[in-house]
Amino acid sequence: MRDTKGIILAGGTGSRLYPLTKVTNKHLLPIGGKPMINYAISRLSSADVTDIMIITGIEHCGAMMSLLGSGASYGCSFTYRVQDEPDGIGGALSLCEDFVGDSDCIVLLGDNIFNEDLRPHIKKFKDNDEDCMLFFKSVADPRRYGVGVFNKKKLIKVEEKPEKPQTDLACVGIYFYSNRVFEVIEQINKSDRGEYEISDINNVFIEEKDCSHSIIKGRWSDAGTMSSYHTTSWSVYQEK
Ligand code: G1P
Repeated sequence: MRDTKGIILAGGTGSRLYPLTKVTNKHLLPIGGKPMINYAISRLSSADVTDIMIITGIEHCGAMMSLLGSGASYGCSFTYRVQDEPDGIGGALSLCEDFVGDSDCIVLLGDNIFNEDLRPHIKKFKDNDEDCMLFFKSVADPRRYGVGVFNKKKLIKVEEKPEKPQTDLACVGIYFYSNRVFEVIEQINKSDRGEYEISDINNVFIEEKDCSHSIIKGRWSDAGTMSSYHTTSWSVYQEK
């Protein structure tokens, strides 16, 4: 069976959290008493995915490394890469090709805070032997997200931040891929906002019928806006 590597995307400008992000990286801000990035690390390590690449922006990469170090204190091994310009999730992911090698990878967006156990999903992904697995969660405000379009239960596509969402199922920032994802990244173009969109990558796998999906049952939120940052922090804090 192929090995699984972890990737945490922790770059970006954090503009929606300005001025909290004026002098630091969004993923270093506190959530429920810990730095935001600790939650992604803990989801991966508790699923025995301990070889992890962290992608971060140039401005605060020193602070990120000072906080996390080699990973030994988390029972992990961390490798860092710097994303010079914010060219989207696809751009960040393309930096991980050599790190992933022949393995599969789990990509987590560092501002997605969730308590789902990834182990059963990893088992299903390995058993299915597919190249892509996506996760959805019902949300109140789908226009903020990539949104799943389904025909009965079959996933047809993911629409990135649609004005008129066809469902309330957000495609959350948890993505499982085989290393074929790096070939797919080569095929896509930048979107109108100048980014390599993760939804464009996922739609290639969906069109090729090489993609399964699951609904997230546990708590999940994207802490990237001021209001979701506070509500996420409070609900995580109360759970302790
Ligand atoms: C990104 C993705 C979007 C996804 C969301 C999850 O959006 O582009 O498809 O649903 O993360 O948090 P962003 O929050 O970067 O705008």
